[in-house]
Amino acid sequence: MTRVFSGMKPTGDATLGSYLGALRHWVDDQGPEALYCVVDLHALTVPQDPVQLRAETLGLATTFLAVGIDPNVSIVFVQSHVHEHSELAWLMECTASIGELRRMTQFKDKSEKAEEGGGGFVSGGLLTYPALMAADILLYDTDEVPVGDDQRQHVELTRDLAIRFNSRYGDTFVVPKATVRPAGARVMDLQDPTRKMSKSEDSPAGTILLLEEPGAIAKKIKRAVTDTEADVRYDPSTKPGVSNLLSILAASTGRTPEAAAEGYTQYGPLKNDTADAVVELLAPIRARHTELAADPAEVHRILDAGAERARKTAATTLARARAAVGLLAPR
Ligand code: TYM
Repeated sequence: MTRVFSGMKPTGDATLGSYLGALRHWVDDQGPEALYCVVDLHALTVPQDPVQLRAETLGLATTFLAVGIDPNVSIVFVQSHVHEHSELAWLMECTASIGELRRMTQFKDKSEKAEEGGGGFVSGGLLTYPALMAADILLYDTDEVPVGDDQRQHVELTRDLAIRFNSRYGDTFVVPKATVRPAGARVMDLQDPTRKMSKSEDSPAGTILLLEEPGAIAKKIKRAVTDTEADVRYDPSTKPGVSNLLSILAASTGRTPEAAAEGYTQYGPLKNDTADAVVELLAPIRARHTELAADPAEVHRILDAGAERARKTAATTLARARAAVGLLAPR
């Protein structure tokens, strides 16, 4: 059976991008061999408000359930509840080279941004982040990692680290691969369609939150940036705004962007239909989230049970990796 692992950071609410690029595929991939993780340790690469981090961790776990992940089938848990993640991360840091870590696009972007706007502070964790992500994946003998396009490079590095470790110390890790579904793999900002729609980005008008109110969603889509030519065509390089709307409409209605473009000659009707499709897609998730959020104790219970199930596999893999590198086992 295929083992599936994926994770999401509890930094700001989930967006339409993280839903179309990842969460809805997690629902399709679920089964007893699927693990879905709120990766709270990954949030710490930038300073966090502790009260908010705790609330967002629980809120994101609630979102996993609200989109349709069934904790009686898949494993839903919080990364820091399974200490093996941090332990294996050290072995992965020692397997990765500084050059590899520096070449990661996300590190380059985020460290530049931190240097410009964040008072020059770039944490060491921002550089070593992909080693922790590799640990997350490798701990569970993962075959497939369903992610959006922006995480492809990190999964590639995970593969390289697994192969390197296996060749240095003997067969220890399963070599995983990213599964990036084309529809919705890269949802762009509605106000700046050349950049990814991002929860941590400061672009409220360009970002649709998964739990946003329908009126606000429709307004943002209707105000989305398009371009000066008036024709409706899917061509991301010359028409990024229109193509983004077509991708969203297509992913929300199960078509290709080219097929979604058929029949439109003007931007107005395209925007109206995209807004309707997104509102219809997200309304049941919002309703379910409200129900689940009324019983946080139940979400805690689910997370505790999930961590216990996850720990079993994690402990076995970590023990194998410790033995492989020559760490003396305690008596
Ligand atoms: P994160 O938390 O930024 O995003 C979670 C998932 O959502 C996808 N995504 C998008 N897909 C399409 N369009 C968008 N605009 C968009 N925004 C986000 C991301 O590709 C991702 O799949 N490093 C990871 C978290 C992580 C992880 C892991 C993932 C930690 N350990 C192990 C997989 C396996 C991250 O920051 O994702």
